[in-house]
Parts: sequence; C-alpha cells; structure tokens
Amino acid sequence: MFSESNRVDEGKDGRVVQGSGVQKIKKEKRDRRVEAAPGMTRRSFLTYLGVGSAALAAGSAGVAAGPAGAQEGFAGAASTPYRVGPGDGFALSFDPIEPTDADKLVLPEGFKFDIIRRWGEPVTADRNFGYNNDYVAYFPIDGLRGGASSEDGLLWVNHEYANPMYVSDYTDPDNATKKTKEQVDREKAAVGGSVIRVRKEGDTWKFVEGDGHNRRIDATTPIDLTGAAAGSDAVGGATEVIGTLGNCSGGVTPWNTVLSCEENFQYYYGESSDDQPQDDEALAETDRWLDDPDTAQPPEHYGWVVEIDPYDNNFKPRKHTWLGRLIHENVAIRVSESGKVVAYTGHDAEDECIYKFVSSGTFDPDSTDREASSRLLFDGMLYVADFANGRWVALDYENNPIFKDNGFKGQADVLVRAPEAAKLEDPETETPLGTPMDRCEDIEVHPGDGTIYAALTNNALHGNFHGQIIRMYEKDGDAEATEFTFEVFAAGGPNTGFSSPDNLAFDGGNNLWMVTDMSSDKHNQGIYSSFKNNGVFVMRGANDAVQGEPVQFASGPVESEMTGPAFTPDGKTVFLAIQHPGEETESKDEPTSTWPHDGDNVPKPSVVAITRSA
Ligand code: FEO
Ligand code: CA
Ligand code: CA
Repeated sequence: MFSESNRVDEGKDGRVVQGSGVQKIKKEKRDRRVEAAPGMTRRSFLTYLGVGSAALAAGSAGVAAGPAGAQEGFAGAASTPYRVGPGDGFALSFDPIEPTDADKLVLPEGFKFDIIRRWGEPVTADRNFGYNNDYVAYFPIDGLRGGASSEDGLLWVNHEYANPMYVSDYTDPDNATKKTKEQVDREKAAVGGSVIRVRKEGDTWKFVEGDGHNRRIDATTPIDLTGAAAGSDAVGGATEVIGTLGNCSGGVTPWNTVLSCEENFQYYYGESSDDQPQDDEALAETDRWLDDPDTAQPPEHYGWVVEIDPYDNNFKPRKHTWLGRLIHENVAIRVSESGKVVAYTGHDAEDECIYKFVSSGTFDPDSTDREASSRLLFDGMLYVADFANGRWVALDYENNPIFKDNGFKGQADVLVRAPEAAKLEDPETETPLGTPMDRCEDIEVHPGDGTIYAALTNNALHGNFHGQIIRMYEKDGDAEATEFTFEVFAAGGPNTGFSSPDNLAFDGGNNLWMVTDMSSDKHNQGIYSSFKNNGVFVMRGANDAVQGEPVQFASGPVESEMTGPAFTPDGKTVFLAIQHPGEETESKDEPTSTWPHDGDNVPKPSVVAITRSA
C-alpha cells in the first residue's frame, strides 16, 4: 500500500465551479454558544467556563514555566521534518511590510510569488483543483529515498469548504431553497484535498501536468476507519466511510504521509451527538447536502484525522479514530524518547479542548516499512489537556469509571463523543477533565526543543478578541508525560501588531511563522482596523528559543485568509494558500475581491510559491 506506484486518479465529473452560504457558516460559527454537557451541573459548567484559557491569559504575567520542560538536544521528528540550518532560508533577512487593505498579496521588497494552482484548474485529466485551499505540506519527490529536493516535490493541499455561489451556482443567500443533486455533487467534488506535483523551472515554480502522483480526494472517496471506533456501534458498525470534508489544517508524519483534519463537518450532514446543541436539521441544511438524501452520510463518519500517502496514488485514505472525533483543526506529531508517536491536536470552537494521542507501539526511524509506521496510529490512548492542573487526562473508558458513570457505552463511544467526555467534571479536582480553550487553531512542535506551540485564535465568549499563542512544556521534555506546564508566548493586539493567530510553522532557523484569521466581515473595522487585511508574520529565532515579537512578512488580498505555510528543505521557498478572497461577496456581479486578477472578475483561492526575486 505504501509504494511509489503512480496511478492517475479516476474521479467522477470534477468540474469545479464556486458560492455564498459561507458567510452564513462563518457567522453561525461565531455565534455558537456552548451548553453544559450531560453530567455537568450548572455550577460545574460555570467553573468550566471560568477556567478557560482567556482567564489563563489574563493571569499569565509572571508564569514561571521557563524552558525547564524543554528537551535539550531534542531530535524527535516534528511535523516539519525537512529543515535547513539557520541562515539558509530567508526568514531573517527581509524588511517587514506594513499592514495594508490592498486587494493584493503584498510581500517584502525582493520577493515574488508564482501561482501554482487556482481553484478550478486541472489536477488530472478529469478532476480540478478544489475550492478554499487550506493546509499545505511539501514532500520532496525523492523523500522516500532519503533525498530532500527543494526544487521538485509533491504538495498536499486541503480544500476546506466550498463557496456555493461560485462552486455550484447556488445563490440563495438564506439557504432557504433546495439544492439540486448536481449542485451537491459539484460541492462534494470541490472539498477534500489535492496531491499535486510541483517543480521549479528556472526561477518559477510550476504545476507538473500529467504527473502520475496528481490526485483528488473529495467527499466521495472511500476511506477506511482504523482504531477502537472502527466497526463499532458508535459509527453504525462502519469500517469504511465515504469521503472527507471540512479539511482544515493538518500535519506530516515522520514516515512521510500527511494527516488532514476534518474541522467543521457538522454543516453537511449535521451532528447527532449531544455535544452539539444546535438544531441538527437546521444545521445540516447550512450547506444543504441532505437535499440529496440518497447520498447522505452519518455524521459520525466525519470529524476525524485522515491519513493520505502523497507518494502512492493507490493508497486508500484512513481515518484514525484513536485521535478522537472533534472539530479537528490540526495535528502535530512528535516522537517520544521511547519512540512512541505522539499527536497533538486541537478542537477549534469556543471553550473546547486540546488533546494528544500517544501510540502503544514505537516508531523505528530506520524502518522502510511505512505500513507498520502508519499502524502505530491504529492503537494508543487519547488524552485531554487539563491546564488548571497541568496534566493530561486519559480518556480511558476501561480505567476511569467517570465515562461509564456518565452514560458512555465504551471506548468507541468516548472517542466518537470526545468533546463531551472532555467536559465531564473530575470529582476530585472539581474541574473539567479538559480545560476549555480559546479556539485552538494550529499546533506545532518546536523542532529544536520539542516544546509545543498552540495558536488560540480568539474567544468572544470571554472578551478575548485578539487571541494568543501558548507554549507548552512536557514534564522533563518527555512527549509521553502526563504533566505539563505552559506560558502565554505571544498575545495578539495592536501592540504586537497581529490579531487572531491561526496556522503556525517553523522554518529551518526555528523561526516561528504565523498567519492570522480575523473574520473577513470584520476586516478594517472597529477594534480590527489597525491590522488591515490578514497577514503572515514571523517571530524570529534566536538560539533555538523563538522570540515572541512578530514582524509582518505578507498581507493577503481583500477578505482572504492565508493558510499553510510550508517550506522546502532549503528554506528558499515557502508555499502558501490564499483562502477565500472576496468572501463577503454577495453577488458575482460585484465581487469584493478579484484576486488573482485574471480579468474575469472572479476571486480564486490559489496556492502560491514565494521565493526571492531573481
Ligand atoms: Fe479552518 Fe479553524 O480554521
Ligand atoms: Ca485554520
Ligand atoms: Ca502548521
């Protein structure tokens, strides 16, 4: 299964066209209100809210969580496995830009970008590049042979969601009218992810047409379930599910596969667990995929972390249920000292938690058996982060009676309803098992010392409108530890120049890159005025301890969010996805952005490669 064989994907009609319920989705997401989980008293629920990370941020001054928890000489595989030495990339040598509201991708002087793929351009003979590109990962074409080519590789690109106005020509701003089957099909073909071969020719990065690696995976692709929930009653007995959707951020494994995270899955087929207080039917109609009832799928089949092998076009994707079912933003992998695979992952919703998975088996970095490595994600334990008590709490049905006592039917049930399990109150500490956080977006492992950085984008429920990045220190630097400390590494606001941190990435010099995701309907207004459009920032590295002072590297087109980023091993190229330019557009006749300015008045999510100008 993990071979380098190439088979061109035989997709269905993949004509991808673009749409508008997106604004509604974003607004509904912002308007979400959490309610007490079963088993929580009103008082414990208020306690739960009270220990949220905004409260932690407010009290963070003087937190004494120094680098004592950092691992000296840390050499574990992080989620950015291809790195260069300090100084080889370009993070330390550019003149920062100023915030701007221009409908452009603005870069520092001396840098340029090449558009590699736009939404709607071909990926294979019969499949097109999906909409709203999000997470980007670069794999050197010779990566399985120990190489680290920085001029020829594969990109995995997530396609998070479709804008119906453009993708399926569905233009009802209220989503009150039904979608046709054809419209639903077009939207299903525009999500998921793409594998694309990319090569630098001269000074220009280009898509390699006709390459056998090129592949689309979408909401119709058959995918295996692995782990404790596979085949269980909690997923209706399924061992195989149909498609992936809501693919937001992700990570790379040490065995060179990609993990793609299903985030806002609930807008398509609803959500049947008690964790979601919304009216399921109304929610499922947000994107109206249930208008085609013959192809409707159970909600439990989504909300997972999906593994894909970009080197093998025959690889059947896998959803690893041991990593829990939640509104998965991201995943970042670290290998513990004893060789266990540890996956950190966050739930991007107000007052939801941060989790980590620890494998039962151990990873052999010298092994070429990638199937055996992937199987490490088939079995282990899922933990939730209790920031109030500095501990990781195992969501272990067998060994903690709290789950059975609160009506969970088994380990599979705990994994499928992980956010509910995480909210249960520990009778001893009288705090929730998992601490409610301020919308965890990306998580990255510091490649130099193994500490964990998590972007908490914001949480309007607690008056935290600019967000923060926290840094977590596992006890004794051990990724398997069940205790940790943390500090607030950088806080958003006019003083630091950024708001609402989202994706993170370390470059070869251990400089921390961060992109921002202020809601597009709030750009250049009110408390967000000074930040202008969403940006890319760098926190420059120094002696393997990154400093929390950001400088701005890029500014995105109007109403866009920039996602990725991903570096080549030599650090000389950074790939970036430009997501949802012109997101607030209400009529195709009057787009609020026309980026990338193709002369057709259509804004197009696109992946770009940024390099120094020749
Ligand atoms: Fe899709 Fe939480 O960003
Ligand atoms: Ca994100
Ligand atoms: Ca990242």
